[in-house]
Amino acid sequence: MKKTFLILFVFTFCNQITFAQKETTIVTLKNDDKAPTINKNIYGHFAEHLGRCIYGGFFVGDTSKIPNTKGVRNDIIAALKDLKIPNLRWPGGCFADTYHWKDGIGPQEQRPTIVNKWWGGVTEDNSFGTHDFLNMCELLGTEPYLSGNVGSGTVQELADWVQYTNFSGKSPMSDLRKKNGRIEPWKVKFWGIGNEAWGCGGNMTAEYYAGEYRKFATFMSDWENTGGITRIASGSNGDDYNWTEVLMKNIPLNMLGGLGVHHYAVINWNKKGDGVDFTEEQYFKTMQSALKMEELVTKHGAIMDKYDPEKKVAMLVDEWGGWYEVEKGTNPGFLYQQNTMRDAVLAGSTLNIFNNHADRVKMANLAQCVNVLQAVILTDKAKMITTPTYHVMKIYAVHQDAKLLPVSFQSPLYTVNGETLPAVSASASKDKNGAIHISLVNVDAKNKNKIEIDVKDLGVKNFTGTIITSAKLQDYNSFDTPNKIVPTVFKGFENKKGKLEIIIPPFSVVVLEGK
Ligand code: AHR
Repeated sequence: MKKTFLILFVFTFCNQITFAQKETTIVTLKNDDKAPTINKNIYGHFAEHLGRCIYGGFFVGDTSKIPNTKGVRNDIIAALKDLKIPNLRWPGGCFADTYHWKDGIGPQEQRPTIVNKWWGGVTEDNSFGTHDFLNMCELLGTEPYLSGNVGSGTVQELADWVQYTNFSGKSPMSDLRKKNGRIEPWKVKFWGIGNEAWGCGGNMTAEYYAGEYRKFATFMSDWENTGGITRIASGSNGDDYNWTEVLMKNIPLNMLGGLGVHHYAVINWNKKGDGVDFTEEQYFKTMQSALKMEELVTKHGAIMDKYDPEKKVAMLVDEWGGWYEVEKGTNPGFLYQQNTMRDAVLAGSTLNIFNNHADRVKMANLAQCVNVLQAVILTDKAKMITTPTYHVMKIYAVHQDAKLLPVSFQSPLYTVNGETLPAVSASASKDKNGAIHISLVNVDAKNKNKIEIDVKDLGVKNFTGTIITSAKLQDYNSFDTPNKIVPTVFKGFENKKGKLEIIIPPFSVVVLEGK
């Protein structure tokens, strides 16, 4: 049994949640009118021309025997619609700064090929292009987020892409779009101006990129999107706070709709460890890296606050997720990895961080949607499975566009080899029908945790629960056992006169619903 005395760790990066070792974790929820709404776009995804994400993943072509709509797999469309994905980022990633969109329009047989320099050196035939992607987004009922080419593209090229997709009047680009079979513009709202400009996007300094950004943004006219297009700057590499500082200082706020941040949970970039065959120590290191997200959004947010106290500029964590060694026997450039309970815990904890920072974090994109890194969907020829991460995103979808209920608590600690992490992670919201949702994660791989939440003043009485867990942390859904890990009914709680007492098992993700 754990000791009941308090060892209080106040982390500098978090003023709401402190960490202490004690028997029961008391979680307090605040029904605060001034609390922000959790932007549904926090639950966004990312699809790059990388490995089998697009080709052999989403897109099999319209001559495939696999059931498809205009070449896009019907099973993937159905699974992602079920997930209510709010937005999808495309075509990269690093690929975006090598992509010339005009190569991917017009008759497929006339499209030029290129070599995918970043990802496996494979030949890209451009058979999946602008129309294919934007029509697919319509099928999915999701907002497209296009990443423009700054690294090897021109200002004119990106300005033309905006006109091609968004202008309904007569213009060279809208005429070309119509000639290619699409009369009405798609009205794309989200536009990235380059990707990882500090690295694969051109190895630029922050100062240089800020200048490039201003130039590109100037010519990306807001043709007729009534709400205006959102221009998004390529953000920092993890904790490069200087990058954020320089961009916020040098880009006029009226040109800056959003600023990205990329952070992957990785044990060590030179020794990432296997996606399935990992030890508890490796799990701990992955979670240590994943939970750094709290510090990143807090510190980048504080810099943004200095220049934008009204929080008009969105923070977008437009690449996040776990990154391991590729599955044995697969192309190292394709970044194909399995997805275990470790990924479920990682996803639940990270989404709790985003929810709790909903005042600034307005979008996030899990990397990547299909067959790449922390995917929600894996395919093997005609077979398709959903991963534990998919199920976490699905049970968390209740938070989309719901009002945040700020949480405060002292987390117990999860200790491995003398190092500690907060064991419990939580976030909560109230939806427009008045239902309350509380999502809880127990990061601890060995110990269950007892949590108490006072729900008396929340205006709800009846609670139900859903849990994602499994016998082993290393468990995953395979093509032979696709439903090993799925959400099940959670009964490990009791409502004692308005006090919810919850026992959350090790490495599990729970969502409670109160109505
Ligand atoms: O998601 C894989 C790669 O990771 C992306 O292409 C790049 O932006 C990042 O470094």
